[in-house]
Amino acid sequence: MKILFIGDIVGKTGRASVKEVLPFLFKRLKPDYTIANCENLAHGNGITEETIGEMREAGIKCFTSGNHIFDKKAALDFIEDYPDVLRPLNYPPSVPGHTYRIEKLPENKTLLITNLLGRAFMPPVDCPFRTLEKLLEEKKADYVFVDFHAEATAEKAAFANYFDGRVDVVVGTHTHVQTADERMLPKGTLFISDVGMCGASDSIIGVKKEAAIKRMITGLPQRFEPAGGDWWFSAVIVDLSENKKIERIFFKSKREFEQWKLKN
Ligand SMILES: [Fe+2]
Ligand SMILES: [Fe+2]
Repeated sequence: MKILFIGDIVGKTGRASVKEVLPFLFKRLKPDYTIANCENLAHGNGITEETIGEMREAGIKCFTSGNHIFDKKAALDFIEDYPDVLRPLNYPPSVPGHTYRIEKLPENKTLLITNLLGRAFMPPVDCPFRTLEKLLEEKKADYVFVDFHAEATAEKAAFANYFDGRVDVVVGTHTHVQTADERMLPKGTLFISDVGMCGASDSIIGVKKEAAIKRMITGLPQRFEPAGGDWWFSAVIVDLSENKKIERIFFKSKREFEQWKLKN
């Protein structure tokens, strides 16, 4: 049972990388199911029905998200209609949107997917530990896959280790930079602190550099625009069969992807 998970897709450049890379990953890695984080899908902030449709067409079956999911307010109106788009489970209950999904996979197995926000250096939300505890008590599936969208590596490691052996996968998202700490925890949970992003390589975590630098130097608010040009593509493939494992995929340019294609 293989699941492909794609890190935060940032704007048009991120979407272009996904459309270029996915056909080859499908052929070479043969995942049974594909998930992606969509919080930056539409021009770097939030989602639109068009951009979600574009990524569904590319083969993504379920979307997790994060703190930017409602940056485009129209999402508040359509998100309830999309059970394949998940908003973080630990927002207050009155926030619209689906918070988990249970899918039927080959061999009659079920997969529970959910998404939570961290609280360190992030806007306040309900406790992610207690919130996931409650969901695990209420919903049962053969496999549980969690996207923990958080800033601090320590919070992500604490979360993954707290649920070690009770969920199958914890992938971190939000920082847009892939970490090299993918591993199986002692009780069998597959974990990586951050999967990274799909977006412009010559950028500051996907956005044009000038505005990001200006904000750092002046402290003044800036309008962030997603950058263009060459891209990063970041993902992980997890294998939940007997030889459980998690592997990173990281192409830091189109050229790196072309070289990978020749070798694989
Ligand atoms: Fe993001
Ligand atoms: Fe985020």
